[in-house]
Amino acid sequence: MKRVEGLSKLTGREKFVDDLLIDGALWGATLRSPAPRGRILDLRFGAGVDWSDFVVVDHRDIPGENAVRLIDTDQPVLASDYVRHLHEPIVLLAHPSRDELRRALLQVEVLVEPDPPALDFRELPRPEQIQYGTDNVLKHLRTEKGDVDRALAGAPIVVEGIYETGAQEHLYLETQGMAAWEENGVVTVTGSMQCPYYVLEALCFALDRNPDQVRVIQAATGGGFGGKEEYPSGLAIHSALLALKAGRPVKIVYDRTEDMAVTTKRHPSLVKHRTGLDNQGRFLAQDVEVLMDGGAYVTLSPVVLSRGLIHAAGPYHCENVRVDGRAMLTNSPPFGAFRGFGAPQTQFAVERHMDRIATRIGIDPVELRRRNLIRDGQTTATGQVIEDGVDRCAVMTRALDLSEFAARRVQHAIFNRTTPDRRRGIGLATFFHGAGFTGAGEVHLGSVVHVAGLPDGTVEIRTANVEMGQGAITVFTQIVADILGCEPSEILVAQPDTHRVPDSGPTVASRTSMIVGRLVEEACHDLMARLGLGDLHDRPPVPEAIREWHGANEKTELVGMARYEKPPGIHWDEDLYRGDAYGTYAWGAYVADVEVDLRTYVPTVRDFVAVQEIGRVLNETLARGQIQGGVVQALGWALTEECKWADGGMANAQLTNYIVPTSNDVPPIRVEFLEVPYPHGAQGAKGIGELPFDGVAPAVANAVAGALGRDPCRIPLTAETLLVLAEEG
Ligand code: MOS
Repeated sequence: MKRVEGLSKLTGREKFVDDLLIDGALWGATLRSPAPRGRILDLRFGAGVDWSDFVVVDHRDIPGENAVRLIDTDQPVLASDYVRHLHEPIVLLAHPSRDELRRALLQVEVLVEPDPPALDFRELPRPEQIQYGTDNVLKHLRTEKGDVDRALAGAPIVVEGIYETGAQEHLYLETQGMAAWEENGVVTVTGSMQCPYYVLEALCFALDRNPDQVRVIQAATGGGFGGKEEYPSGLAIHSALLALKAGRPVKIVYDRTEDMAVTTKRHPSLVKHRTGLDNQGRFLAQDVEVLMDGGAYVTLSPVVLSRGLIHAAGPYHCENVRVDGRAMLTNSPPFGAFRGFGAPQTQFAVERHMDRIATRIGIDPVELRRRNLIRDGQTTATGQVIEDGVDRCAVMTRALDLSEFAARRVQHAIFNRTTPDRRRGIGLATFFHGAGFTGAGEVHLGSVVHVAGLPDGTVEIRTANVEMGQGAITVFTQIVADILGCEPSEILVAQPDTHRVPDSGPTVASRTSMIVGRLVEEACHDLMARLGLGDLHDRPPVPEAIREWHGANEKTELVGMARYEKPPGIHWDEDLYRGDAYGTYAWGAYVADVEVDLRTYVPTVRDFVAVQEIGRVLNETLARGQIQGGVVQALGWALTEECKWADGGMANAQLTNYIVPTSNDVPPIRVEFLEVPYPHGAQGAKGIGELPFDGVAPAVANAVAGALGRDPCRIPLTAETLLVLAEEG
């Protein structure tokens, strides 16, 4: 199956929002806060600009609520009299010329009377820094099973550790952009996004309109990785406000520096582990405390924290587990969704902790994992019984074999003894990732998918799930072609447009293939039933049957439908945070082989092995691409991508000194899949989009630990960090 939109991307025909020529459109731009916290005293529009040429929008132009509606409504669309983070939007401007607009922006002065900002989420806030509740805690969650304190008190071995991870920029190829116009009383917004129905809901709330007066259409989207999960909602409102006031279409497209400085990043984290073990290295108790930096508003932090906590104990069995976590308010631009959604942060901690434990008690880190990996019939931290037929030890063993782990450890020891200025290490991480919304989330979403038979015999797939480079529309097409027995050329995928497609939920949480793909399958079966067709054998081709149906049923639509239903036997207690957190988990074991040059302290990943069990592989090329892409993106997080913070903002919001891996930095990445079909996923598939992010940083850090004989507990592992680690221990 070839990539459906591959040729149009390859040839440049694909239209991203920046490419759309919209008659009479103005450009929009955003005036932002120059301070991380304080009262807005005055806005001074400079005398050198003829402001009558500009459309100017502020908070008074918002017809509905001044809030970007998400989990909470605390984040304003435009600050009215108070700012809570650097670069917070205050005023919007529009003008026919992008250059004039840039010049004019520099001629507006924002005067802010500063209040003391909270800038370090690891420090308890002082009274004058409190801005949310009584303690700046945006969300507190806890899950507990067994008796952790008693088990820890009785454990012969207790190992502690503290682990930290930094922020990360998504760096999607296409920056954020949105265009809006009003026509016949309908506000239409189009642009780069993952979640058309989130954007719709936010627009209705801020514009005080019904869903039939607002239309959201996803334009071709050049990468998201979570960065286009919540952020586009606010940007869509901005473009709509300008368009309404201008009476003309308005387009806002961020340049790279603005995008890097103002949009969401991965949540920085600090995780503390206290683990009790018996003398054979079996877990007796895991006590885990998680802190995340939420930034200035609630946004998605509660659910990022939640996914982080559920994965924080790792893929291990332990009778006594407590995971307690807080997302803290700081006066930073809000941190947000990023591939893995909290799980990479907490699994970096637990997997680094595993190797620390192994060193401390003198056991092989492979053996420590073998003794504790969940076996069928055992439970996760939330008490979910795992019984999926996957042999998690076999997943690990395959990665060890493929990487020649044992042999290389011996070779590296010799190399390190005999080479003066280089050190090598090999590191392992075992991990898991739950796909789909957490707990009862998918039930609340109640996703709907339509598969329509058009009069000319074409089949049209209608979902709200977007293609953003990951291959969604190719996988959907492939599923329909398989079930209906038609050619990919006889299948269309509707552009996500809230006036044309049902709400099949957001394109997030590794849910698109597994959950929405499954609904596509079911909608196909419903379509066949409406056509009176049985299974593939002895029946007319589907396009022919569709044409016949339309011949006999004039002017009615032929639509197969499916709505999400919870797989049987899933129970989740939201209050206790216990039970079946996810319908299923994918399992992985990654190995990194790393060399550190002692003259420069630059770490180089020499080889990488990624083995994962993902239910069923739907499209080998796309699946491999997801894993390799995720590994590269996570290598950046692990090694070089460092957000430098100054005065509440990112000081290195440019690609000259925010260092992402290039093709020169990427090792060979050997990907292997193991398959145990998941009965409730599309054709047996589990979600894989986020999975690769969880295993990379700990495997690399464990390799560096081996190479240097040190205990790196904080990423990114830049050359500077490794120098300090090696010299100071
Ligand atoms: Mo998201 S991080 O796009 O679930």
